[in-house]
Amino acid sequence: MHVSFARWRSRMAGGLVLAALLPALPGATGVDLDPRPTRQPDRIMLTWSGDPATTQAVTWRTDASVTEAVAELAVATAGPGFRDSVTTVAATTSALETESGLAHYHSVVFTDLRPNTRYVYRVGDGAEHWSEWIQFRTASDTPEPFSFIYVGDAQNEIFSMWSRAIREAYAEAPRARFIIHAGDLVNRAHRDLEWHEWFAAGGWIHRMVPGIPVPGNHEYDPLPDSPDDADVLARQWRHQFTLPPHEIPALDETAYVIDYQGVRIIGLNTLTHIEEQAAWLETVLADNPNHWTVVTFHFPIFSAARGRDNEALRAAWKPLFDRYRVDLVLQGHDHAYGRGHNLPVGVNQRDPEAGTVYVVSVSGPKMYRLSPEADWMDRAAEDTQLYQVIDVTPDLLTYRAMTVTGELYDSFQIVRGADGVKRFMDGARRLGPERRGGE
Ligand SMILES: [Fe+2]
Ligand SMILES: [Fe+2]
Repeated sequence: MHVSFARWRSRMAGGLVLAALLPALPGATGVDLDPRPTRQPDRIMLTWSGDPATTQAVTWRTDASVTEAVAELAVATAGPGFRDSVTTVAATTSALETESGLAHYHSVVFTDLRPNTRYVYRVGDGAEHWSEWIQFRTASDTPEPFSFIYVGDAQNEIFSMWSRAIREAYAEAPRARFIIHAGDLVNRAHRDLEWHEWFAAGGWIHRMVPGIPVPGNHEYDPLPDSPDDADVLARQWRHQFTLPPHEIPALDETAYVIDYQGVRIIGLNTLTHIEEQAAWLETVLADNPNHWTVVTFHFPIFSAARGRDNEALRAAWKPLFDRYRVDLVLQGHDHAYGRGHNLPVGVNQRDPEAGTVYVVSVSGPKMYRLSPEADWMDRAAEDTQLYQVIDVTPDLLTYRAMTVTGELYDSFQIVRGADGVKRFMDGARRLGPERRGGE
C-alpha cells in the first residue's frame, strides 16, 4: 500500500508520542516482576542462627493478612508417609512496609534436630496456603567431607543476569551444604524489587541450600523518605535472614560464626565497627577447635581493581588472619576476579608454601577493570561471571573457581599434614591464559 510522505510522517510522530506515554519497565532490568506479597509464602530462605547440626532457621514472606504463620517439619522418608509425623512450629512474625506494600515476614528456628539427617519442611498459614515440601540436611556433628559454594557480588540485573550464575553453581554442586554471599546482593539497599529479583533468580535454591550472607556497601543506604541521611542496613535484611545475633546490636545478623563439620566460617561486616570486630574476631579465632578457618566479608583486604585499596581494614584485621592462620578469605566488591596467597605483608612468613589465601570474585554482570598495580594475584580475570565450589575434608581443602559457562578458571588445594602444618598447591598453572582486556 502506498503511503504518502505526509501521512507516514504523521504516523511516525504518533508512534513517538505513544512510546513516550507507555509506562517504563521497572528499573533498568527490563524485567516485569510483581514484588507485592500475597497469602502464598514467597522469599523462603534457609539460614542458621545456631548450630547447623541441630538447628535450621527458615524465613518467608506473605501479605499482612497472614498473622499466625507456621512451619511443619518431619524427618524425610522415601515415601509420602512423613506427613503422618510432622511437628508444627509457630512462627515469629514482623511487619515491613516498602514500596511493594505491607508485608509480614515469618521466622522459625527448628531446634533439637538430629545431626546428619535429611528433613522435609513446608511453611504456610496453617490452612490453605502452603509452600511445597522442601528438603534440607543437618550437618554432621563431627568433621566430615562436604562442599560449599561462594559467590561475589550479584548486585545488578539480578533476575536477568545473575540467575545463570546461581543456577550453574547449583548444577555444578547440587549437594553443596551452604552458599556464601560476600556482599552486594543488591544494588540499592532498600529497594524491594531488587530483593524480589534475588529470590526470583535463585529462590528455589535459597529455600533448599542455606545461605551465609554478609552485607556489602550496597546493603547500606539512607532510608527512603527519611530526613536522616545516615546509611542503614537494608530494611529487608533482618526480616528475611535469621542469622546469629551479636553482642554489638549494630552488628546483629551481619557478623557471626558458624561451625560446619570441622570448618569455622566467620562472617564480618566491613561497613561498620571495624575495630570492635577486630577484638571480637580475636576471641573467635583464638578459641577455635576446627581444622579449617574461612572468613568472608565484602571490602577486600587486597584489592583487584584500581583506586579501591582498603588500608584501614587491612591494618585492623590482617594481623589476626596471620597470627591465627586463617586458611581462606572470601571477598567481593571489586567486580573482577583475583586470588593470591602468602602475601609478603605482615607476619605470615612461616612457610613459603603456606599462608592465608585471599580471593575476590564476582557473580553478577557489573565488571571493573583490573588494576595494573594489583600485583598480589596469582590468578586474575576481568569481564567474567564466576562462582566457586570448595570441597573440604579433614585434611584437604580443594578450591575451584568456575566461569558461568562451565570452564574451570582457577584451582588450588591446601593440604593439612599430620603435624597440622598446611601446604598450598597451586592448580592454576595447568589452566589456560588469564581473561584480561575484555576477552
Ligand atoms: Fe559491588
Ligand atoms: Fe561493594
